Amino acid sequence: MRNPFLIGEKVYLRPVEPTDAPILAACNNDPAVRVSFFTHTPTNIYQQTRHAETLYTPGADYIPLVICPIEDSTGRGIGITAFHRVDLVSHAAVYSIRICDKAQWGKGYGSEVTELMLHYAFDILNLHRVQLHVWTENERGIRAYEKAGFVREGLLREAMMHNGKYCDFYVMGILEHEWRARRAEKQKAQETNA
Ligand SMILES: CC(C)(COP(=O)(O)OP(=O)(O)OC[C@H]1O[C@@H](n2cnc3c(N)ncnc32)[C@H](O)[C@@H]1OP(=O)(O)O)[C@@H](O)C(=O)NCCC(=O)NCCS
Repeated sequence: MRNPFLIGEKVYLRPVEPTDAPILAACNNDPAVRVSFFTHTPTNIYQQTRHAETLYTPGADYIPLVICPIEDSTGRGIGITAFHRVDLVSHAAVYSIRICDKAQWGKGYGSEVTELMLHYAFDILNLHRVQLHVWTENERGIRAYEKAGFVREGLLREAMMHNGKYCDFYVMGILEHEWRARRAEKQKAQETNA
């Protein structure tokens, strides 16, 4: 593993390096990935290198991490996960995840990354609430979030335009006490089955 920050069973998360600029750019540019984020302007590797050089300053409210499969010893990233708008007064943040290597979808990585990021949010950053917006047609993403304990809190109707059509988004969120209760239940179930 290369410079790991959070370690799971299948993936680990490490800080973004300027050399990760191609992954950052792909997460923004690749049509199959950006469709879920409604990103409509391109970015290039030069811009992303410069952006990577400005990360992790004290008090920064954006905390991105590169997603790396443990089985790949090169430390090659397959996507980016992040907390945005980290608010240490309200103890809240917005969660995002993008796996830009489509060959890596459906392997359980997104679900595990979401679990790892919630552990980071509640056990380490001392957050109270994590939320996100997800396009109602993004079934894989919604499933990964619900498995981790996010609940649908509301619907943003016709919030964004895509291919000539206005699209709805779910607001999803999870609170610290809900996450701790789920974790305790899981641990209890594991002990019962052991
Ligand atoms: C969304 C994303 C993060 C999910 O990560 P992933 O590693 O592909 O997902 P997982 O393998 O953990 O699967 C999550 C769940 O979705 C299910 N799933 C997979 N494909 C599905 C599909 N086409 N429809 C519905 N559910 C699907 C899986 O079976 C799994 O549920 P299970 O464990 O109960 O079987 C990833 O696909 C991605 O980055 N997509 C592009 C960007 C994006 O959409 N980001 C989220 C924007 S809000």
